[in-house]
Order: sequence, then structure tokens, then C-alpha cells
Amino acid sequence: MKKSIFILCLFLTFGCNAQKVSKKGSPAPTPPVDIEALIAQMTIEEKVGQMTQINLDVVCEGGIYKLVEPHHIEPAKLNEAITKWHVGSVLNCGGHAYPLKQWHELVGEIQRVAATQGRLKIPILYGIDAIHGANYMMGSTLFPQQLGQAATFNPELVKRGAQITAYETRAAGIPWNFSPVLDVGRNPNWSRFFETYGEDPLVCATMGRACIDGYQGHSTTPDANHVAACMKHFLGYSGARTGKDRTPAIISDIELRQIYMPSFQAAINEGAMSVMINSGEINGIPVHANPAILTQLLRNEMNFKGMAVTDWEDVMKLHQIHKVTANNKESVKAAVDAGIDMCMVPNDFEFARHLIELVKEGKVTEARLNESVRRILVMKRDLGLFVNAMPPALKDFPDFGSAKHQQAARETAEESITLLKNDGVLPLSKTSKVLVCGPAGYSLTLINGAWTRTWQGTDAKYEDNSRHTIFEALQVINPNVTFSEGSTLDSLSNVDEAVSKASTSDVIVVCLSELPSTEKPGDIEDLRMPDAQRELVKRLSKTGKPIVLVLVENRPRIIHDIVPLCNAVVMAYQPGDLGSDALARILIGDVNPSGKLPFTYPAHEQSLLTYDHKFSETLDPKFGNTAYSPEWPFGFGLNYSTLTYGELKLSSNELKANGSISVSIDVTNSGKYDARESVLLFTRDHVASITPSVRKLRKFDKQLIKAGASATYTFTLTKEDLAFINKDLKSVTEPGQFDIMIGDKVATINYLP
Ligand code: BGC
Repeated sequence: MKKSIFILCLFLTFGCNAQKVSKKGSPAPTPPVDIEALIAQMTIEEKVGQMTQINLDVVCEGGIYKLVEPHHIEPAKLNEAITKWHVGSVLNCGGHAYPLKQWHELVGEIQRVAATQGRLKIPILYGIDAIHGANYMMGSTLFPQQLGQAATFNPELVKRGAQITAYETRAAGIPWNFSPVLDVGRNPNWSRFFETYGEDPLVCATMGRACIDGYQGHSTTPDANHVAACMKHFLGYSGARTGKDRTPAIISDIELRQIYMPSFQAAINEGAMSVMINSGEINGIPVHANPAILTQLLRNEMNFKGMAVTDWEDVMKLHQIHKVTANNKESVKAAVDAGIDMCMVPNDFEFARHLIELVKEGKVTEARLNESVRRILVMKRDLGLFVNAMPPALKDFPDFGSAKHQQAARETAEESITLLKNDGVLPLSKTSKVLVCGPAGYSLTLINGAWTRTWQGTDAKYEDNSRHTIFEALQVINPNVTFSEGSTLDSLSNVDEAVSKASTSDVIVVCLSELPSTEKPGDIEDLRMPDAQRELVKRLSKTGKPIVLVLVENRPRIIHDIVPLCNAVVMAYQPGDLGSDALARILIGDVNPSGKLPFTYPAHEQSLLTYDHKFSETLDPKFGNTAYSPEWPFGFGLNYSTLTYGELKLSSNELKANGSISVSIDVTNSGKYDARESVLLFTRDHVASITPSVRKLRKFDKQLIKAGASATYTFTLTKEDLAFINKDLKSVTEPGQFDIMIGDKVATINYLP
């Protein structure tokens, strides 16, 4: 009875705006909402409300971050948010993951009140961080973190992961995902390094595009199985000088355009519906208060038409942290003047209160509000929310957390895991006596990383015990596998037991790690892998038994002193819930590894060069050219087969302004394993008006090469593929010679416009 009254109310409510709720919960064909007519009816308060985003905690029982268990909406609070403040958007969860049913109750109640109590019955835009899967929904599929996804060099896998994430997010009734991170991971100290697609702008742009395609379903009006993407964090967030989160970045205009912009431009071209702003500052100006970035660059130059949301509390931080405004009200004005559309306030209504006053005092115009409100309403319309904002029927999402989705996550992990060293100890025999050690050997928390059921991902109560730890995954295949921890993340633990067990084993698999973390809690003082964990490897190596080192990390922790003690090194990144199974299949040779590093793995703390460094940075103290000597370079990754690269074949050695040349190379697999090989094409400009990089990645492609077969990789190059940003901030290709490099093969071409 209650249910039918509710459905009737909903129909009447949305009926007023001539919309229909389809039976299946997916958008039914209806006349488009007249956004301008809606804006014309809105009061200043209602417009400001649309621009206000609050945290779920604000409308729940209990205090902010101290919700009463189990979490419930508090009707009076929700009523105040909707009827007094006219709030347009709500985000995230109370630091928890909820089952779908609970999400439906929470989101459904918010939408129901908006539809019944809100004067104009405008649906709420609910947003969430679904970072490596729908991580705040219990039972969802968890993929490798973005950094691991980049290591696949396979945009199709990134796209498929995003499609699944969108589906599982939408299953909860949530249509907006604060993802992907398009910040370029240039500094491995940064706590959010694992959230990036690595250090190269082209990889970030390609993977970012694929991800947005997957989230939005190649559309700017996503259907009921897709979500709006939010590219973040615009712009230069990852460039913090020290690597400490939300600290100053000093970035030249050239570098901004060369390194940090391409991934966002690609995402805009792909139709990304929203953007989140960088919480930090560039060259002394907090980005949230910088019209040159938020309006001139983002809107006028990059032609972004979607909606811009601030990051968490960042408007108030203009005064409270950055000290560029004298009080919170000035901060609101500065951010609105700079170009934000929606403020992730998110824990009170201060933003709305100040902005209403500013408009009434004539300091912000109503026309300015209209610009943002229009973008917000268009986004709601394009997401189908005016048609049906209610959570869907569960039966419409039969694949939520399904075996098919889990398999996709495992396959992504399998293509991401990167073999960095192997003297032949890998693959392991399925019957050998294996000892697994180290903190990541027996942990589901560590293999998943941050944004796993909670923000920092460290609450073990959410571990899904049907998933395997590394030890368990190996034991499923080989009963002769045992475990002895030997070290926690930061201190030795029962190391003598581990050493003694190791001495009677055939091989030791040591799984080193760091505590999952992100944002401020992830700031570190020392990039080295903690002493205790390195000491564990040193002690184990005294047994003389072969050591396979497995790395499960947020960022490349320095391990230079222990690499020589290891017979094999495998980078697992944070491979997600199915990552242990993927890793086990690689360790025993059921899967041939094919990941390649999407970043430079440093050998030393003071040598954090990226692969595209300048020539001057190669000079060493002995006047040689060895200064770029990382532990492993960008693009590095071994496999179990024998792959031979043939000679480069060019259609011509001369490139004209409007022409193109094709570059191809044959790769032969003479080993016993089928191999998926990513071929990376770099260029080097011999002479340029801005100091050129020693090399720049321009193309990549991954193909399956069967054992005993060959594959041809063909790339087409135009002048854009040789371009750089010049002193006038224009993308140019200067005439002259360029090297084309694939593996150790090099050919030189001339660009003659
Ligand atoms: C993070 C964003 C995230 C937002 C909402 C912020 O602290 O920087 O990446 O989307 O919180 O959770």
C-alpha cells in the first residue's frame, strides 16, 4: 500500500514536468525538460541551492563523521536541506560501503523528498567516488587501481572496467562518478600516484579517454547503465613540488600545456560531462580562485561545456588554508568569479548562505548563477534524472558483482602485472615447496589499496573472505605452499621462523607492500621501502634459496639494495580483489605476463627523473651520460617468451606538412608461450627551439602473438606526432630531423613542411 502511494506521488510529481517514469526504471522517451523555463521560475535561493553539494552525513542521523549505526536519513535534516537550502547535489557515503539495498533506501529517500517537498521538484544529482570499481557498494567488482590499469597498455580493458564500474554504480541508483584521475603521475612521492595512469601524457590521455567512453557509453547522454564521468583534478594537482598532497606546484605555461593538459583535452573531446578542480595551487594561485585556469583555459581555450565541481571544502580553504581571501564569504566570491559551478561544501550550508548574500548585495550577478545552474540542470537532464531519479529495480542489474565481472577484473590484473626481473626462477613449478612471506602475502586490504569500501581502504572488516590473498591463491594451485609473515609493514615479526621455513623450501615468494592511503594521510617522509621489509629480504637471502619479490604498492618504493638479492621481481601494483589469482596464474606460468611500467621506477630517492627528461639531465658527475639510471625505465616489462623485434620499415624518410608516414615493425615470438606484447614508439627531436626531451612516447599498440608466430605493428605518423609546445604556447613541429625509436631500433626522418 505504502509502496503504491509512493509510486503514485512520484508519477504526479514528475508528471507536472511532463515526464514519465518507465516501468523498468530506465529513461522513457519524454519531451525534453525546458531548462530555460525552469531557470526562469527559480529564486536566487533555489539557484544557489543547485550549486550546493553536501555530504551524505549532513542529512543522516548522528554527527558529521559520527553517524549513528546503522546509517539512516534523518527526516528533519533532509527536509531542511531540500526545502530551506534547495540543495542540488549529495555525495558519497558516511565513510562506509553499503549493500545495494541500503543504497536504494538512502538515495531513494533523498530523491523522494526532492520530488515531493522541493518546490520545483528538481531531482538530486548524487555523486560518488567509484575509483577502481564501485568501491562503496558491498559485493561490487574491484579492479586494479588506475596505475595498474595503465600498465596493461590496453585501453580496451580500461574501457571494459569502466563499463562494469558504471553499471555497478548505477545499480545503486547513483549516476555520477568522480573518476577518472587524469593527473599525470610525475612525482612518485605523491600519495595519489596509484590513482594516475602514470607519468606519460599520451598514456594518460589514451586511458582517460577509454575510461570515459566506458563510463558514459560513448555518449553525452548516458543511458541507465552508464554514469557521467568527472575528469579530475583540473589542473596540475600532481605537480606538487615536494610530492606532499595539496602543496604548491610551480609549473611553467609550457609544461602545463605539454604535460598536464593533454589528458584533460582528450577527455573533453570524448565528451566528459564534468570536471573536478585541483585543491592545490599553481605558481602561488590556488586553482579554485584562478579564472585564468577555470575560465580562460578550461572554457575558452579547451572548449569545455560541462559542469565544474570544486573539490572537498576547497572554497572555504581559500581563506582557511591558502590565505588568499580575508574570510569565507570572499572565498565564495573568488571561486564563483573564477568559474566553478558547484561547490562540494560539503558539511554545512555556508557556501549557500554567503552566495545568496553576495547576489543580494550585487557582488555576484544572477546571470552568473544562471550559467552554472544551466550546466547543472543540463547534466541532470542528460542523465535522465528528470525522467526517473529513483534507484532501479535490483532485478535490472543481474550482473552486479557477477562471475563475468569478476573475470574481467582478473583479466585486467593479469595484463597489468609486470615482470621486472627473472633469472629463470619463474615460472614456478606447480609442485615445488613454496614459502610465502611478507605483509602483502596474507592480506586482502593491501592488494586493494585506498578507495576500497572506505576512503583509505584500511578497514579489514570489509574484506571479502571469498577472495584470495596471495598465499591462498597460490595454495589453491599448489598445496605445498605455506606462509610465514616475517615482517609487518614496518617491523620484523617472527623473522626467525620465516627464515627457518625458508631454508627447507624450494623457493621464497616475498610480498612487500605499504599501507593503503590516499590524499593527506598518504604523505610519506621516505620513498624507500620500509627498513624492516628490506631487512626481511636480506635475512631470507642468507638461506641461499631463490627469492621472488612481489611488490604491492601505492607508488614505487625504493628497493635498490635488495634487487640484487632477488632472482625475480614482479610488480603487482594494487591489483584488486582478484589480483592474487591473477598473480598466482602468472607466477606458475598459466599466464604469460604482459604488463609494462607506466612510470620510471627510481633506484635512488634523489633521482626521480621521468623517461622524457632533457638531455642536460643525463649528464653525470663523471661527465658521462648515465644520470638517468633508474631501477627500471618507463615501458619496461619482461615475459616468459622470446620476442625479437625486426627492423623498422618506413614508408618514407620524409614527412610533409599535410602528409603522413607509416612505420612498421615485425615482432617474432620464438618462445613457448603466447605473448601479448605492447610496442611503444618514441620520437626524438634532434634540434628544437625549446629544449627537447630525450624521447617522447607517440604511439603504442598491444597485440597477441602466438608462440612461433610473428605480428606486424603499424603506426601512422603525422606532423602532430612530432609536435611540442613552443615559447608562444603553440603546438608546433619545427623542420628538421627526428629519430623514430621502437625498442633498440632507430630510424631518422626529416620533417620538411
Ligand atoms: C578528493 C577527490 C574526491 C572527493 C570526494 C576529495 O578529497 O580529492 O578526489 O573525489 O574528495 O570524495
